[in-house]
This record gives sequence, C-alpha cells and structure tokens, in this order.
Amino acid sequence: MKIILKIQRYNPDTDKAPYFQEYTVEAEPNERLLDALMKIKRFQDGSLGFRKSCAHGVCGSDAMRINGKDGLACKTLIKAVVEKEGDTVTVEPLRYLPVQRDLIVDQSEFFSKYRSIKPYLINDEPVAEKERLQSQEERMQFDDTTNCILCASCYSACPVLEDTSAFLGPAAIAQAYRFNADTRDRGFEVRLGVLNRADGVWPCQNHFKCTQSCPRSILITKRINQTKRMIEKHRGETKT
Ligand code: SF4
Ligand code: FES
Repeated sequence: MKIILKIQRYNPDTDKAPYFQEYTVEAEPNERLLDALMKIKRFQDGSLGFRKSCAHGVCGSDAMRINGKDGLACKTLIKAVVEKEGDTVTVEPLRYLPVQRDLIVDQSEFFSKYRSIKPYLINDEPVAEKERLQSQEERMQFDDTTNCILCASCYSACPVLEDTSAFLGPAAIAQAYRFNADTRDRGFEVRLGVLNRADGVWPCQNHFKCTQSCPRSILITKRINQTKRMIEKHRGETKT
C-alpha cells in the first residue's frame, strides 16, 4: 500500500519556521510507522531527523505526535492508523519541548522535572537482616509505574502544560508515586516540597490524555490523584 507521510520539518540553522514536507512511501500494512520513517531516511531523504534506538517499545526515544496523538513510532502499526484515519499520516515532534531538528526535541526540561522528584529509593534506616522485604500485594500498589520508559508521550499529551508550562507533568508525578507508594521508601517528605508546589501535582485537571497516550499502559491519572490524596492525608496528620 502507498501512504503519504506529512512530516513537520525544521532546521533552526536554516529555516525561519517549521513547515510540512510530504513523502510517499510504499509500506506493508503490518509495518510500523518507524519502518516508514526509516525508508524515507534510507532511500529518499537522509536529512530527515528523528530519534530511535531499540525499535521495540523499550527505550522510549521515538515518541512523536502521530495524527495529533502522542505515541511511539515503533509501536504504531501503519494499518491501524490508515484504517481509522486515512492514508495521509501527519507526524510532528512532541509538544512543549524545543525542537532541535525535525522530530527531535530537547528533552532537558522533561528530565529536569523528573529528576526534581528524586526518582530513587530513599531510606536511611538500617536494613533488617539481608534485605527490605515487600509482599506481592505491596508491590502491586505501584507495579504499573515501574514500566515507565520516560518517552514523554504523556508530557506532550497533557493539555495543562499548554497554559502552565511550569507544571511538573504526568511522568514525574507518576514516578514520584512509584517511590512514595513503595513500602521500602521513606522519602515522601523529601519529595513533598516539589509535589506540593503550586506547579506540582495541583494543576492536573484529570483530562486523562496522559493515560490514553502512555505506550506502557500506566494508570497515570489515577497515580496523580493518589499522590494528591497522600499529600492531603499528610496535611491532616501534621496539622497541629
Ligand atoms: S508514563 Fe508512559 S507516556 Fe509517560 S513517560 Fe512514562 S512510559 Fe512514556
Ligand atoms: S525505538 Fe525504542 S521505544 Fe521506539
């Protein structure tokens, strides 16, 4: 089948503004969007810029906007898009992050927000015997969130960031929940300062766009709401 990829191009060194360029690609229905992009890069236009690494939905480097929805090019089947939305597929870079070239964005702000919630186990207490034990039920409280590949699809999908660019964003909050809900962690109060800021968890308005876009099926909105409840509970407990 022939498909047309309408791709946003932008080279800040030579272009005044982003523009769209169309490529016609011969593709098998079961190929992925990433396969089509690689065909363009190899056989039509080597100047096209996009990131990819694993090609199997694991590294998180090829997130982009596909017909206005955020996701991984390597997990998007051509037939799934074409059957629903026709044979012209619009491909754009993720939103809210500066474009470095074409579909490549500078993810520094996304990662700096992620690092700000201290995404690691914090616990200075001595380890009992050999290790910090945890039951399967306790692990299931946050199991989905451990699958995050930091692709930033949820970040680009979030409507709140359109008006509130300082908002921490869905991925950082879901990862804060991942450790706050971990029975082995003692870092809630350390993360609280960032989570409880005006631009921490509170701007989330439950649009669910993050949850819908996540290629790892993480229950992001639910985890954000649980984080809000943890903060409210902590407030109640510490009130004098
Ligand atoms: S929560 Fe999902 S969409 Fe967001 S960065 Fe992690 S894997 Fe990507
Ligand atoms: S290339 Fe690694 S997730 Fe798509």
